[in-house]
Amino acid sequence: MFRRAVDLLRRLRSLVVGDMTYALKKQGVNLGENIFIGMDVIIDPSFPWLITICDDCTLTSRTIILAHDASTKRHLGYTKVGTVFIGKRTFVGMGSVILPGVHIGENVIIGAGSVITKDIPDNSLVVGNPGRIIGPTDVYITRYRGILENSLTFDESWTLEGGVNSEKRQAMYKVLEDRKPNKVAFVR
Ligand SMILES: CC(C)(COP(=O)(O)OP(=O)(O)OC[C@H]1O[C@@H](n2cnc3c(N)ncnc32)[C@H](O)[C@@H]1OP(=O)(O)O)[C@@H](O)C(=O)NCCC(=O)NCCS
Repeated sequence: MFRRAVDLLRRLRSLVVGDMTYALKKQGVNLGENIFIGMDVIIDPSFPWLITICDDCTLTSRTIILAHDASTKRHLGYTKVGTVFIGKRTFVGMGSVILPGVHIGENVIIGAGSVITKDIPDNSLVVGNPGRIIGPTDVYITRYRGILENSLTFDESWTLEGGVNSEKRQAMYKVLEDRKPNKVAFVR
């Protein structure tokens, strides 16, 4: 009785706060801890048990992870299937597609709109279609750590979650606009 009540509460929470992790685990996705899942993420609903996503990964909105490919089905009577593995602390940029059979290492950063067709080793920064490695993640992070040190930063009060007001929105727009071209700032 108690377990059923807890189960119900977890389902409700999953519906209310949009926390997909409970539903995905139920479907059979091998999901680690502390995983961020953005909006409209598709994790192959046909073969979820073939997909592993390790701790501390970020799947930004519209990420698609596929574990099957029915392009052969009408010709051969079979669909291709393959496991997908995403190692710890990997970031998947918005709108990226990860194809069946791909093993992605730890600390990988995948740029927005990438299509990952082949295995990616640990500590790689990957962009494009097909995804190509453009450098090591640690070099990218070191570069941005240096940029951050000499950069304008905004605290949480400049975010939607922090209740950013219209004055701050306009001020942020103006300050970033004045820093063009190719200048970024950082927000907590
Ligand atoms: C991949 C990424 C992390 C690289 O950042 P960066 O190093 O500051 O990028 P740069 O502008 O120095 O680009 C390096 C090169 O990669 C290319 N590139 C960068 N991002 C790319 C992308 N998403 N797809 C294809 N090429 C990309 C650039 O054109 C540049 O190519 P060049 O050397 O031929 O000129 C970043 O561009 C990105 O895509 N981040 C994800 C953003 C996102 O998904 N946000 C969602 C909400 S969190």
